[in-house]
Amino acid sequence: MSKWAAAVLAAGKGTRMKSRLPKVLHPVGGKPMVARVLATAKAAGVEETAVIIGFGGEEVRAALGDEYHYVVQAEQLGTGHAVRLAEDALREAETVLVICGDTPLLRTETIRQLYDAHREAGAAATILTTVMPDATGYGRIIRDDKGAVLRIVEEKDADASERAVREVNTGTYCFAGRQLWEKLAAITCDNAQGEYYLTDVIALLVAAGETVAAVVAEDSAETLGVNSRAQLAEAEAILRRRKVAELLAAGVTCIDPERVYADDEVTVGADTVLEPGVILRGRTHIGPNCRIGPDTELVDTVVGEDSRVHRTYAHEVTVGARAQIGPYVHLRPGTELAADVKVGNFVEVKNSRVGAGTKFPHLSYIGDSDVGGGVNVGCGTITVNYDGVHKHRTTIGDGAFVGCNTNLVAPVTVGADAYVGAGSTITKDVPPAALAVGRSRQIIKENWVKKTVERD
Ligand code: UD1
Ligand code: CA
Repeated sequence: MSKWAAAVLAAGKGTRMKSRLPKVLHPVGGKPMVARVLATAKAAGVEETAVIIGFGGEEVRAALGDEYHYVVQAEQLGTGHAVRLAEDALREAETVLVICGDTPLLRTETIRQLYDAHREAGAAATILTTVMPDATGYGRIIRDDKGAVLRIVEEKDADASERAVREVNTGTYCFAGRQLWEKLAAITCDNAQGEYYLTDVIALLVAAGETVAAVVAEDSAETLGVNSRAQLAEAEAILRRRKVAELLAAGVTCIDPERVYADDEVTVGADTVLEPGVILRGRTHIGPNCRIGPDTELVDTVVGEDSRVHRTYAHEVTVGARAQIGPYVHLRPGTELAADVKVGNFVEVKNSRVGAGTKFPHLSYIGDSDVGGGVNVGCGTITVNYDGVHKHRTTIGDGAFVGCNTNLVAPVTVGADAYVGAGSTITKDVPPAALAVGRSRQIIKENWVKKTVERD
């Protein structure tokens, strides 16, 4: 059995979110908030976790997977009741971290600090507290004149002097397992809200002569609990600024840091410039010395060094070094561009491998294609990859030249170094180094206008 386990409170409906989605599944920085909390706890060293679910519990379970114990709290009788339900799953744990599924901004280091302080003090409970300019809504930390924690009083149960306290309970704690379960069995719901308060465990421990410690989180923004869409937006903004600060520290220029959005796992190389309106999602990795944006969204996309990506939407794509992409380009899944490729304005590329130095300068659709290196594809060329039932591949060999406004009707191959005349519809393979022209011959009728068109 684990030394350190966590009970994650995630049963709440989150009424103020006004949502069909359980509150803890609302994403912040691209991930459900409870998934963030779980990842943070795990990174801090938690070995085993019980998630207390209730409203939308099955949805929460499906989103998080089977790595955790799930405990269903059918009726929300309070935080003390909720944690108590995890006893069976976590009974043997030496230390129990209690944490809410709606505090997505907590950092791993802070949780680690809480745990270390708890172990060092040999405490029965250690509370993560913070000092807030406006403590409205939070439980207040009541200390004696020597500074020792006596109890936590909920706002609704507090008198005027207690309400004046600015140090609040963040809702995150470490408990010694045995003492926690023992005292949870003793709490009552005799309070202003008629709920079983987890916070009452603190006074019971103090009365029993146990050590109760507190760690004050310096940055109160980190402990923000999300209860409303306004707080969700606030959390999103804080996370975004955190990530952008990390990019700036890594040598990335952000022309307007308020308009750069990057998920956690995103990496960007030094000397890359991110213009306003850049959104980097999922596992997107940008090399050094690139210029990305403005108004560019890259999802699970890798971009090599020294590339320019301008007003582009790309998902599940690999772009090689020194690429010139955009403006107004759509790169779709399965696209792999080698080095020095140019994809110019109003071009869509899907599920295609493209060799080094190849150019699609304007107005093309390239789908399901294998294109060699050094190929030039003229303006308006499209691969006709769909016959209404099946998708077919187009192959273009190294060094080929495809004239403007060509239809390449797949399955079809244009051989290496071949030429295709402008305006062709190519339905048969073109041998290497051949010229293919597939269009009707132009005819001229002399004086046709004079003979046939009546004019006043
Ligand atoms: C709680 C604390 C308060 C602290 C605040 C920090 C108690 C009694 N009070 O108050 O001291 O300042 O958090 O945010 O613990 N939940 C359940 N089941 C329940 C009740 C709650 O799973 O029966 C979950 C909620 O979904 C939420 C978390 O526990 O994620 C906190 O519950 P909430 O009702 O918001 O507690 P607060 O009143 O904010
Ligand atoms: Ca709350």
